[in-house]
Amino acid sequence: MFDVFEKRESAVRSYCRKYPVVFEKAKNAEIFSVDGKRYIDFLAVAGSVNYGHNNSYIKKAVLDYLSEDNIINALDMYTQAKEDFLRTFEELVLIPKNLDYRIMCCGATGTNAVEAALKLSRKNKKRTNVIAFSGAFHGMSLGSLAATTDVTSREGASVPLNNVTFVPYCGSKFDSVAYLEEILNDDHSGIDKPAAIILETVQAEGGINVATVQWLKDIRRICTEHDIVMIVDDIQVGNGRTGTFFSFERAGIVPDMVILSKSISGLGLPMSLVLIKPELDIFRPAEHNGTFRGNQLAFVGCKAGLEFFKNSKMETVVAEKEKIIRKYIEKEILPLDSRLVHRGIGLIHGIDLSGINPKLAIEGVHKAFDKNVILEVAGRHDGTLKIMPPLTIEENVLVEGLEILKSVISELVSEK
Ligand SMILES: Cc1ncc(COP(=O)(O)O)c(C=O)c1O
Repeated sequence: MFDVFEKRESAVRSYCRKYPVVFEKAKNAEIFSVDGKRYIDFLAVAGSVNYGHNNSYIKKAVLDYLSEDNIINALDMYTQAKEDFLRTFEELVLIPKNLDYRIMCCGATGTNAVEAALKLSRKNKKRTNVIAFSGAFHGMSLGSLAATTDVTSREGASVPLNNVTFVPYCGSKFDSVAYLEEILNDDHSGIDKPAAIILETVQAEGGINVATVQWLKDIRRICTEHDIVMIVDDIQVGNGRTGTFFSFERAGIVPDMVILSKSISGLGLPMSLVLIKPELDIFRPAEHNGTFRGNQLAFVGCKAGLEFFKNSKMETVVAEKEKIIRKYIEKEILPLDSRLVHRGIGLIHGIDLSGINPKLAIEGVHKAFDKNVILEVAGRHDGTLKIMPPLTIEENVLVEGLEILKSVISELVSEK
C-alpha cells in the first residue's frame, strides 16, 4: 500500500511514519483515510488549519476566485486579491488593535519569513548577533535553523550555525531576564550586542512552554532600553491559537516585528508575512525577493479567514473550549499519575510524560493513532504529548478525543 512512497519519496519524510495510512478527505477536525477510517485531528497540520479543514466559508471564497479566471500568481505585482487582503488586514486587525505595521509578503513558508525578519533586523541595527531562547523552533533554512535549538534539526545543517546566542526561556531554573540584563549591560560579557531578540510567546515545538506576561513585558522593556528589535514568531501560536488573534496581546506589548504563517491563509495554503514597524521597513526593492510572494489564493483565503475569525467570534470560542480542555486535563488526566505535568493556554496544551519516562510520549502517539486520534510529540526528548485541535472543533469531538487520550495515558502509566 505504501510501496510508491517508500520507493520514491525521500527518506526525510516524517509525519507519515507516525500516521501510516493514506489520507484522502478532511472536514473541520476530522480526517478520513482512503479506506474510510475517521481520525480526530489534534494536530491541525501543525497549526495551519486553525479554522478547520475545508472551512466552508473560506473555501467558497477561494473556489469563487478560482472559477473566474482570476490571476493565480503575479509575483509581487499589484492585484485585486492582494489589495482586498491588505485592506481587510488593516480594517479587521491593525486598526482595531491600534497597530501600525507595514506588511511584507514573503515566500511560501514560515522559515522564509523568519529569514526575512532576521535579515531586516541585522540590516537595521548593523549588528550580526541575534538572541534566541533554549527550546526555540524557528524553521529549517540555515538562518532560522541557527536560531532553532533541537539537536536533530541542527545536525541536518552540516555547516556551522552562527550568529545566534541562546538564553534560557521563561520558566527555566535560571532567571533569563536577569541574565539578559547582565550580559547586555556588561561590556565584558563577551556576547556581542544583538540586532534582535526573537521569541515565541508559547514554545510549541519546544514542549508547550508558556511565557508569563511579566517575562514578555520584561523582554519588551529590555529591547527598548538596548535598541534591539523584538521579533515575535507567531507562526504556530498566532491566528487565535492562544485566545487572541496575536499571541502577544495578553501581555499588552507591541513587538517591532511579527511573523505570521501557517493559519494566516485561512485554508492551510502556503503563505507567510512579516509585520514591520514602519521605521524598520528599509529593505531596498527586491532585497528579499521570491517567486511565491504572490500566492493569490492565499490572499483570498486570508481575507476570508479574517472575516471568519471576526464573524464567528473566535476569541470567545477559544475561551470556551479552553475551559473544556483545562477541566478535562485537570480532573481526568492529571490524576492518572502524579508525575504528569500539564502546560498550555488557549487551544494548545501539552501533557509532559518525561517525569515518568520521555519515551512514553511517542508510544502515546502510536497508541492514540491506533484509536483514531492524531497528535504529536514536542519538547525535550520528545517527551510531551501535544494537543492542538482546530479552534473550530465541535465540542463533542473535542471531548471524544480527550477521552481517547485519557485511555491512552492511562495505559501508558499503568504499564510503567
Ligand atoms: C514557531 C515556528 N516558527 C517557524 C516555523 C517554520 O515554519 P515552516 O515549517 O512553514 O517553514 C514553525 C513551523 O512549525 C514554527 O512552529
